[in-house]
Amino acid sequence: MTEDINHSDIDDIFENIWEALHEGVKNRFSDYHLFNLATRSNDHVECRTVVLRDVDKNKKIIIFHTNNLSNKINEIKKNKKVTALFYSKEEKVQLRIKGDANIYNNDKKCHNRWNLMSTQSKECYFQNIKPGTRIHAPADVHVDRHEELSPDFSVISIEIFSIDWLLLSSKGHKRLKFEKENNFKGYWIAP
Ligand SMILES: Cc1cc2nc3c(=O)[nH]c(=O)nc-3n(C[C@H](O)[C@H](O)[C@H](O)COP(=O)(O)O)c2cc1C
Repeated sequence: MTEDINHSDIDDIFENIWEALHEGVKNRFSDYHLFNLATRSNDHVECRTVVLRDVDKNKKIIIFHTNNLSNKINEIKKNKKVTALFYSKEEKVQLRIKGDANIYNNDKKCHNRWNLMSTQSKECYFQNIKPGTRIHAPADVHVDRHEELSPDFSVISIEIFSIDWLLLSSKGHKRLKFEKENNFKGYWIAP
């Protein structure tokens, strides 16, 4: 988000949310590069850090990559409703994004994204032991070097249905809600 953003103009803020997310994809030093992904587990909520890999303002989606054998995949298969939580310390802005997570595996979308990845990033998807499995010692885990698309590589696209924007400021806190059912026309809510 730019320094000179008008924090009274709802449309301006919405534009800047998407600019910040785009920057998060491109710039690993951006506060928006990482987010916390919350999923529903059987009897509690799970949360973990993931990397923002792509965004599409027109389709209102955000994308991350994951191992298809990881626990979050099972959780998403049972309940696709997820929350993505971003916090920018620099801007004092929290974004709470809710949406439906769609899993893509071994398809054209995965091929396209795989081809853009570094060899090092690809290695994570050739692990000999499934993520989350109990092991004797860290050395039990190793990766083989391959270049072809790993069947363990999945792309998760979160189709957004609401964005909760919160600005903490000494001049007064501000909070906005944007919802799909309202065509993402923002409105103020009490912070
Ligand atoms: C800085 C950082 C970035 C991470 N990025 C990802 C990511 O993009 N995708 C991913 O699946 N896990 C990522 N992880 C690991 C997850 O936080 C998590 O430990 C792992 O995916 C297993 O989660 P699960 O058991 O809930 O499926 C990242 C962890 C850290 C600390």
